[in-house]
Amino acid sequence: MPVDVAAYLDGHAATASRTPNPLAEGLKGSRILAIAGEVNALKAKGAPIVNLTIGDFDPKQFPVPSVLVDLITEELRAGHTNYPPASGTAELQQAILDSYRDELGLHYPAGSVLVGSGARPPFYAAFGTIVAPGDEVLYPVPSWNTRHYAYLNGGVPVPVPTRPENGFMPTFDELAPHLGTARVLLINSPSNPAGTVIREDLLRDIALAVVAENKRREAAGARPLILVYDQVYWRLVFGDAVHFTPVGLVPEVAPYCVMIDAISKCWAATGLRVGWAVAPPWIIGKMNPLIGHTGAWAPKPEQRATATLLREPERLGDYMTGFKAGLERRLTTLWRAFQALKAEGYPVDALAPAGALYLSAKIDLLGRTVDGTRIETDDDLRRALLQVANVAVVPFDAFGYAGPSGWVRLSVGAVSEDGALAAADRIAALVRSACR
Ligand SMILES: Cc1ncc(COP(=O)(O)O)c(C=O)c1O
Repeated sequence: MPVDVAAYLDGHAATASRTPNPLAEGLKGSRILAIAGEVNALKAKGAPIVNLTIGDFDPKQFPVPSVLVDLITEELRAGHTNYPPASGTAELQQAILDSYRDELGLHYPAGSVLVGSGARPPFYAAFGTIVAPGDEVLYPVPSWNTRHYAYLNGGVPVPVPTRPENGFMPTFDELAPHLGTARVLLINSPSNPAGTVIREDLLRDIALAVVAENKRREAAGARPLILVYDQVYWRLVFGDAVHFTPVGLVPEVAPYCVMIDAISKCWAATGLRVGWAVAPPWIIGKMNPLIGHTGAWAPKPEQRATATLLREPERLGDYMTGFKAGLERRLTTLWRAFQALKAEGYPVDALAPAGALYLSAKIDLLGRTVDGTRIETDDDLRRALLQVANVAVVPFDAFGYAGPSGWVRLSVGAVSEDGALAAADRIAALVRSACR
């Protein structure tokens, strides 16, 4: 008879509540994943929901490049199933450096790359290397999970609210007052959740200010300000938008810049877990054991296949063109629907899609009544959209943006073109009925 362990766990509520240390106790799970759980539960009951919540892809809509699948399979069959080197295979490190030289115009030396299982472990390792308890972590909001990585290292989050008229990017003047005390400045472009791209002049000003601040600190013998530039969506830019890097604009910022990247979003490969950081070798060297001790390596077949594709991008054929066009069509469908409603005088808005897989949309039903319920908070709005319109979205307050604002993120990675149209129609119907 196997031991019935559940019987021995029952009645241990006090032990359960006293077990986690204060750090684990205070760590919050992802609100986006909690919302996704609610959506999935409704879907399981048969609700016809268009799911625009998750920053992921439905492989039926957006598969990984088939050549990547073939390469990984070949590597597996060839027996590359043991531990990879802790900082990534030499081939992948070199392929990343070569691709940064050829595609981003940045020629980094050997020792400047650390590979991990997706962007998160390098992100975590960068914060773990740089942030000491009490250090300020400066970042614009709305923002992806930065506050959790600050928390994990005892950092003090300093969120800087941004405005829709600036594409939810900070202005230089909004950041400037904090640069003298911050330890890390996090900039993410293309942006999750906003779907916008940082302007060249703003990024240049930020990089110049980081250099100037560090000159001051060096003279004072103080620890430097590090710019963490999260560019995991950089291959997904649309229309006139252009992706810039801080080091490309201001090379003198290189000693103070950590770039975070991955195949997760750019090749729709979120489940394959290959990401990396590119940074000065003395930062990479310290990040390395953090990846090593957590075992957060990328699987070896995936690393080898990624190296091949970065080295020989022509093997992707027209994959990137089709992938980006598919995202852009869905985003544009939604954006146009919001513009049409706005032109009719309804209290909605949306920012033109420029990058990533997201649309920022404002659905300002605050103070109005939907299906008998008054909308008071962003979460009331989210619930009304989910339960009445069967459209699942993530409100900006889940990204640290103080509400109620009426702004929500619509993610198109898991939706068909028909689904995007249906979502647009359902949102329009809800808005019209709430504003009657
Ligand atoms: C801005 C941003 N950075 C980093 C990540 C982490 O990517 P990965 O799945 O490669 O860990 C995400 C994932 O959603 C993201 O949106």
